[in-house]
Amino acid sequence: MMGNKSCCWLVFFLFIFSSFVAQSHGKVRKQTELLNLLQKAKMQGNSGIDTSLFEVNETESEAESYKILPQKGMKEKDRIERLPGQPHVGFSQYGGYVTIDESKGEALYYYFVEAPTSRESLPLLFWFNGGPGCSSLAYGAMQELGPFRVHSDGKTLYRNQYAWNKAANVLFLESPAGVGFSYSNTTSDNQSGGDRKTANENYAFLVNWLERFPEYKKRDFYISGESYAGHYVPQLAHTILHHNKKANGPIINLKGIIIGNAVIDDETDDIGRYQYLGSHALVSEKTIHQMEKHCNFSPGATSQSKECTEAVDEVNSNIDVIDIYNIYAPLCFDTILTAKPKKVTPEFDPCSDYYVSAYLNRADVQKALHANVTKLKYEWRPCSDIGKKWTDSPLTIIPLLREFMANGLRVWVFSGDTDGDVPVTSTMASIDKMRLSVKTPWHPWFVAGEVGGYTEVYKGDLTFATVRGAGHQVPSFRPKRALSLIVHFLSGTPLPKPSSKH
Ligand SMILES: *[C@@H]1O[C@H](CO)[C@@H](O)[C@H](O)[C@H]1NC(C)=O
Ligand SMILES: *[C@@H]1O[C@H](CO)[C@@H](O)[C@H](O)[C@H]1NC(C)=O
Ligand SMILES: *[C@@H]1O[C@H](CO)[C@@H](O)[C@H](O)[C@H]1NC(C)=O
Ligand SMILES: *[C@@H]1O[C@H](CO)[C@@H](O)[C@H](O)[C@H]1NC(C)=O
Repeated sequence: MMGNKSCCWLVFFLFIFSSFVAQSHGKVRKQTELLNLLQKAKMQGNSGIDTSLFEVNETESEAESYKILPQKGMKEKDRIERLPGQPHVGFSQYGGYVTIDESKGEALYYYFVEAPTSRESLPLLFWFNGGPGCSSLAYGAMQELGPFRVHSDGKTLYRNQYAWNKAANVLFLESPAGVGFSYSNTTSDNQSGGDRKTANENYAFLVNWLERFPEYKKRDFYISGESYAGHYVPQLAHTILHHNKKANGPIINLKGIIIGNAVIDDETDDIGRYQYLGSHALVSEKTIHQMEKHCNFSPGATSQSKECTEAVDEVNSNIDVIDIYNIYAPLCFDTILTAKPKKVTPEFDPCSDYYVSAYLNRADVQKALHANVTKLKYEWRPCSDIGKKWTDSPLTIIPLLREFMANGLRVWVFSGDTDGDVPVTSTMASIDKMRLSVKTPWHPWFVAGEVGGYTEVYKGDLTFATVRGAGHQVPSFRPKRALSLIVHFLSGTPLPKPSSKH
């Protein structure tokens, strides 16, 4: 029913991109804005972006991909006593730099929070945001699953009751170099990025970080992330599997991956996006039909008919005015910090990006975090411009998901069902494309008597789960459901069906 697949790309770029321009103010650049730029570039076909399948480059990996440097004594130096404006907590926090390339002078910034209880037995969980070019500190740590969120005064913090460090020791990384506090002393290196560079840097970081925190070397290890981290997470996992096979390299105890509202396969992401807009009454059927009829969606098409342009304009006018990343959410109208913190409500504050930017740009906060020790000449931003010059991005990561299933890794794919950017229909179409057979048929899953979402488990083993009422950043919008999801993922237990009393 949904007709020409490629149309969605074009529509999507044109309208989503414009909606971003309408919403973003000044220097705050959002994770999804960069994703849309990249998708637009890939769709044009002549962008020079390498879209071949991801694999570890043997030549590179042998020669110079990573070096393990001495890390003795550095862990204690990274301990964060207290962040400015934080409430009292009963867990340890660490932050600092790990050098990943001495000759280029490249170092990545990490923030690590241990669990308040059972930290010795709980797993190690890595979290990535996407972009490409966006910071896991900006989103994951400070707005989604981290232990704190920033008040509207931009200088004090409050607890996130549903922080994931209740279930794991959680590691946030700003990568690749050039994102957030992570830097390169070689000018050219912070001006472009790519999937391969990111995977190599993430791996080099990880083996060095484990040297700094040796008690985690043998710990069960999981990798999680959202959005464009649908590329980063599988690519790092693939790189780990590759290096684990080497006789004398470090062995990382990778057990599984989990990705949410993730970019998985350009074609199916595209089809699903279009379906979502039509089925959620954001665009009229007439407009959708007009597009199907008049737009030329072949890759590399350079001009469009007047009828097509009109339809696209019509789509834009409908979408510009909402937050496409959480279609029922309020917008941010007032980006000015308040003298006193606004009262915290269960609804996620759409202006949070601004509070986090203000907080992380404070000198006292950077000092406490052990960040920006080289006095970078630019401000900290949630997303860096390197995402605008992306060199490689495969069309699909499905072969990697298959590889993990074949290697016995746990693979979970979740989706907040009110995201119109990488919507649930896209994720379902991507899983459909894998042609898996069903192990546990579709059923609602529950948190405290309410439907948390719906789930289906496939043989092999892959679990799909929706998170009901959550936008693109699932833990921001539905923190309790997100925590339940990660608890079940980490323990390898199925999402709960209704109790028999029900
Ligand atoms: C692998 O890396 C080497 C050295 O950097 C490079 O010359 C070669 O083109 C790369 N191959 C691929 C397939 O990317
Ligand atoms: C980058 O340069 C600064 C200033 O020279 C230096 O202090 C820092 O150690 C360098 N970073 C790395 C990772 O080499
Ligand atoms: C890249 O690094 C150079 C030199 O360190 C700096 O002047 C420039 O502002 C950086 N650019 C970005 C986009 O981070
Ligand atoms: C680093 O610190 C300098 C001042 O010492 C400040 O001007 C700059 O904005 C900071 N940059 C980042 C990325 O935190």
